[in-house]
Amino acid sequence: PHSKIEQAKIVLEKNWQGSFTIPCEGLYPFQWNWDSGFIALGWAHINMDRAKQEIRSLLSGQWKNGFIPHILFHNESDSYFPGPEVHASYLSPHSPALKTSGITQPPVLGFVLEECFKISHNEELDFVREVFDAIYHNHHYFYTNRDPKNEGLVYICHNWEAGTDNTPVWDEIWKDLESPEYQLDRRDTKHVDASNRPSNREYQHYIHLIELFKSWKYDDGLIASNGPFLIQDPLFNAMLIKSNESLINLGNLLEKKEQVSQLRRWQQKAKESFNKKLYSKELGTYVYYDLRNERHLNYVSSSSFAPLFAGVPNQEIAEEMVRWYFEKGTFSGNKGQFLLCASFDPKSTSFDPKRYWRGPVWINLNWIIYRGLLRYGMKDVAEKIKHDTMYVLNKFGFYEYFDPRKEVLNTLDKGYGGNNFSWSAALYIDMLK
Ligand code: DGY
Repeated sequence: PHSKIEQAKIVLEKNWQGSFTIPCEGLYPFQWNWDSGFIALGWAHINMDRAKQEIRSLLSGQWKNGFIPHILFHNESDSYFPGPEVHASYLSPHSPALKTSGITQPPVLGFVLEECFKISHNEELDFVREVFDAIYHNHHYFYTNRDPKNEGLVYICHNWEAGTDNTPVWDEIWKDLESPEYQLDRRDTKHVDASNRPSNREYQHYIHLIELFKSWKYDDGLIASNGPFLIQDPLFNAMLIKSNESLINLGNLLEKKEQVSQLRRWQQKAKESFNKKLYSKELGTYVYYDLRNERHLNYVSSSSFAPLFAGVPNQEIAEEMVRWYFEKGTFSGNKGQFLLCASFDPKSTSFDPKRYWRGPVWINLNWIIYRGLLRYGMKDVAEKIKHDTMYVLNKFGFYEYFDPRKEVLNTLDKGYGGNNFSWSAALYIDMLK
């Protein structure tokens, strides 16, 4: 029998495709953007060369305008819907020869690069130099195309861009969207239990948005003025801010003076606006802003806590937020009945502990929040979230997500969604090192 860490390495090894790592066999058979970022962190501990290849492969799909797509179709596979023909990235004048999707995912690459550099004991400066400009270009893309009011906050135009694909927050958008009833050729529900996945109606909205973008040739201006889904998301913006910070640190090492000053300007505005616009005093945490309908979406999800990782709140606000939600609060449960951290407010009537981003615990969000808690010196709660993370991974294995209800854990013999899921394995390795 292999030790758990050996098993984690085997997962990465099996999912390695020669130049990048798939998130999960069958369910996600291509290269995914933020998955690759977290996966690179795992590789960095065991095989730095593969971490570098992972990042290079992701950047090989970058568009000429700096955009980095959420899926890269390096290979062929018929186990996934929607594939390259649905996304049709060739419609955009910016897309490269490689087939990709035309939407993105949370920009983790900047901080992933800094982490890899640290894991290498600062040996990999040449690699940092090799990819720095491409990642900077990606940030430039966001601030010039995704911030129409010049606030320092960028929008996402599709729920898949959030990463938290089917969070109940989007229900608010879907209820006013009259998407046609597309014929769906779903494959995901052939691989895993349909009750763990988004509904067909939700998928019709997802496809409808893609069809709209295609009719606009993925033009950012048209999307900004006409897209029905235009959200300033706290997780997405926190990832961008954390990555700005990392690029500032790395840019200083490389003596990239101009880029560093530009990053600093973006950063200052971003943090200010984040606290002004996305912080809810009533809820004591960060929420979503719907730019299309000019309204806040006042829901609390695990994304609400991601700003800790990016150093957005001041110490007092951070401590209050953690006390309120994690210490006998909504997310821990008043009797401590939930593992940290459910992906959606366990007190909400929309909470579903089995269904994807509507409640289950996700390892990458736990990792982000864990790092955030350490940043603010909240060691006890940080240890608790680490403990809960290790607990589910040790007990069930490297599943995609897990039930947060402690009362049912002993009646279950597995996690939910895909098994042998790459970032669960990669972040297990990182959290143990
Ligand atoms: C999926 O297919 O569920 C992915 O999350 C989309 O990127």
